[in-house]
Amino acid sequence: MKIKKAVIPAAGLGTRVLPASKAMPKEMLSIVDKPAIQYIVEEAAKSGIEDILIITSRGKTTVEDHFDRSPELEKRLLDAGKIDVYNQIVDITKLANITYTRQHEVKGLGHAILCAKAFVGDEPFAVLYGDDVILGENPVCKQLCDAYEKYGLGVVGIKEVTLEQIQKYSSMKLEALGEKQYKITDMIEKPRPEQVFSLFSILGRCVLPPRIFSILESIPYGYGGELQLTDAMKVLAQEEGMIGVDFDGRRYDMGSKLGILEAIVEVGLSHPETGEGFRKYLKTIVDQL
Ligand code: UTP
Repeated sequence: MKIKKAVIPAAGLGTRVLPASKAMPKEMLSIVDKPAIQYIVEEAAKSGIEDILIITSRGKTTVEDHFDRSPELEKRLLDAGKIDVYNQIVDITKLANITYTRQHEVKGLGHAILCAKAFVGDEPFAVLYGDDVILGENPVCKQLCDAYEKYGLGVVGIKEVTLEQIQKYSSMKLEALGEKQYKITDMIEKPRPEQVFSLFSILGRCVLPPRIFSILESIPYGYGGELQLTDAMKVLAQEEGMIGVDFDGRRYDMGSKLGILEAIVEVGLSHPETGEGFRKYLKTIVDQL
């Protein structure tokens, strides 16, 4: 079954990137010339997703404005003959059919996904975390959708991380299936060192069957008093198994200060407008490091 719907949870408080995220959603923080969430919507669109639901919360209306038409600005650009920028601005609004829903209380990623129940209905759907930008030739969302079509099981994007990092993320119990593909039978959110199954963690993307909603409605609130998506996926993994795809792509955690810097440096170096000048500049300061 082709995956046509995606949910982008973008309602979190972004406490790790304060004060930047106090009045500006972290999902709107810019990587050179585009906000993080635009890269994510572009990835979904390139993966064949047609309908996107963005989960927002108080103070996130700039996300909606970004994907909306802007007649006054468009007219100004046209009158000034700035056709390239005009096209870029209008193209943003054509990427996908985007709708929004508010998470009234920020009670965790699982709670945010539950807000998408009516939108999703009875079909599998992709989830792209609103602060995880992943760049590469083959969109990661597409890599996961392909695995869902192949196996008919929920899919998570995974990567190996360090023992220190895994305690802040999730740990997968898995066995190899094929090249870069794994069967996952159990998982744990924010494990203590003795609870770690493996150093593979879910990073930013999954494709889920609609069964996830009834699980989310039945499980208790977990780590940090939040309804954890990982706790619901754990039930799914134990019930029928899930698939882990060790994806191709470079991930930037826009919810962390270092992740934002890495994204800006790497995208800035490969950007056609800034690449050359930025490389020259970096060379001048690199000797002083
Ligand atoms: P994070 O856990 O990274 O976001 O969630 P956070 O809670 O904003 O982070 P910190 O720890 O306070 O810095 C991953 C994605 O899920 C969304 C976030 O906006 C982010 O894009 N999210 C998280 C929600 O939509 N709702 C929530 O209740 C929690």
